[in-house]
Amino acid sequence: MKSVGRCRAHTNIALIKYWGKRNDELFLPMNSSLSLTLDAFYTDTQVILDESLVSDVFYLDDVKQGEKETEKITNFLNLFRNRANIETKACIKSYNHVPTAAGLASSASAFSALAGAMNQATNLNLDLETLSTFARQGSGSATRSIYGGFVEWDMGEADLSETSHAVQVDDASWDIGMIVIAVNTGKKKLSSRVGMKQTIATSPFYSSWVETATKDIKNIKKAIKSKDFVTLGEITESNGMKMHATMLGAMPPISYWEPDSVKAIQKVKEIRDTGLPCYVTMDAGPNVKVLCKKSDMTEIENRLLEDFDRKQIIPSHVGEGITLLSEDEWNY
Ligand code: DP6
Repeated sequence: MKSVGRCRAHTNIALIKYWGKRNDELFLPMNSSLSLTLDAFYTDTQVILDESLVSDVFYLDDVKQGEKETEKITNFLNLFRNRANIETKACIKSYNHVPTAAGLASSASAFSALAGAMNQATNLNLDLETLSTFARQGSGSATRSIYGGFVEWDMGEADLSETSHAVQVDDASWDIGMIVIAVNTGKKKLSSRVGMKQTIATSPFYSSWVETATKDIKNIKKAIKSKDFVTLGEITESNGMKMHATMLGAMPPISYWEPDSVKAIQKVKEIRDTGLPCYVTMDAGPNVKVLCKKSDMTEIENRLLEDFDRKQIIPSHVGEGITLLSEDEWNY
């Protein structure tokens, strides 16, 4: 007996960041976060549950993965197998349309695509909210990639796993876009998982970070509701900088920045000073993401091309939530 599931999930970029867990096993965050789903970066994943397999097998971009990577996947699949009361092993094939581990949140699209595919293969029919609580337990940021547009990941209550899930705040079908400035797409040296733990344990700024992120969430939701792009951008930029400032306060200090990150930030500020509203945010990597109006994207791209190569500038529109792929749509 074989049972198949196929799903596409897009990555998301947090405008209000998640940086720290209150419960490591359950991936429960210290604060709620809010993101924008992007259509330019995604993962396609196929799960085949196969009675004849003796262990899970995991291929990423056609390369068979080793024990360590496969074990992470096995643990994640077990969440679904336990719920469905089955033990069937799986063959997983994932294709990343994201520069892996470049701070472009590839784990977000990876675990939400896997959650969507596994939901289909097991016939569990979990609703999206519940599915986001499963995705969360693969990688925190994956909680948000279940949905498109602007998405809030509600931190939830106490140690109650089912209360910490994502919701769509707005479909972002207005004048919104994002441009990624790829400064360095190599693998990052310090994973977010380790970086956030180290920040909680040693940064004296951590409690202020949680406080300020909580206020930022409230205010950014107001800005989204009133489609106030400037306030949206200002809160986004400020929140990202505050996260990085909190990391710098860790011992030893954590910085994901490179000289070209600073160059990109300064360039964006220069563009903004000429009257085009655009704002930066950065994650656990050196790449810079620019939140801008969709209608200004071409102009901003052209200005960025004065200082960066074509291949470093990746524009993206707003992305959708997870979608199941038919056999015909599976072009691998
Ligand atoms: C800086 O979701 O990669 O991108 O939950 O440990 O897998 P784990 O971490 P991950 O962290 C993302 C951190 C961030 C901010 C964000 O996406 O909110």
